[in-house]
Amino acid sequence: MDAVKLRRAIARTRLAPVAAFPKRLVAVARHDAKVLRTSARWLVASREHHNYTYELTKLSRHHLAWFVSVVCELPVKQVRKYLAEIESDDVLRQHISSAVAGAARRGLADKQVRYARRIGWYAIVRAKRPKHIVETGVDKGLGSCVLAAALLRNAAEGHPGRVSSIDINPEAGYLARTAPWSEVIDLVIGDSVESITALDRPVDLFLHDSDHSRAYERREFAAVEVKLAPGAILLTDNVTHTNVLAEHAERTGRRFLAYRETPANHWYPGDGIGVAW
Ligand SMILES: C[S@@+](CC[C@H](N)C(=O)[O-])C[C@H]1O[C@@H](n2cnc3c(N)ncnc32)[C@H](O)[C@@H]1O
Repeated sequence: MDAVKLRRAIARTRLAPVAAFPKRLVAVARHDAKVLRTSARWLVASREHHNYTYELTKLSRHHLAWFVSVVCELPVKQVRKYLAEIESDDVLRQHISSAVAGAARRGLADKQVRYARRIGWYAIVRAKRPKHIVETGVDKGLGSCVLAAALLRNAAEGHPGRVSSIDINPEAGYLARTAPWSEVIDLVIGDSVESITALDRPVDLFLHDSDHSRAYERREFAAVEVKLAPGAILLTDNVTHTNVLAEHAERTGRRFLAYRETPANHWYPGDGIGVAW
């Protein structure tokens, strides 16, 4: 029996996984070694302990541009321009970098500015020009600053807007307290569901990024539904963990899409953007 015939014969038997074991072991060991190398490098180079920041891989950035293009019905070339706009905003980068360096919790933050999927939020705001954004969950204020940067550009083109950024932690949002970004940010300290219920202006763009439990995410979308302006867009940062926004979209007759980001040089598997519109 020649080698090919022997391999085919073994593949039909219960011995097959044992025969393939060395090949399978090498494949998984190579993969895990890469993850371990990346993790070890990160443990030394980064100070972050939650809400990790990273760049997207080139491919993941391409896919993000197409995702925004489809959702916003805009040529992908225009979306790429928006992505490049936020990435080359050196004034914002400088602000974030120096604010982090001077922050009380600087020992747990990185000075390098890495927006990950937030560049997609930026492009959506540039494309849709919302008058009122609500972001739940602020943390340092990285997302709030990115949203504010888009609003400032929109205002310069004659389409002003504001973002209500809500967080339960009184120390949240230290990046979002500096002009010019702070001029379009209303930082609200309080529980997001209570704060959404108290909103007195229609919401054009809503972003869930607070308590990521399924039940809480569901409560936020239920609370904001009655506050939405016609044609409002709903975003979730929780789309890699729950199906809450997709279910909400189905109940309310909207379309739904999900983008899953891929971080470059990071052990974290990444989050994503869920959108209902
Ligand atoms: C993942 S972080 C937000 C990240 C931020 N959007 C960004 O772009 O970096 C989650 C935040 O949600 C806040 N949070 C948790 N539960 C909340 C609640 N019930 N109401 C409002 N904020 C809450 C936390 O204090 C935390 O700062």
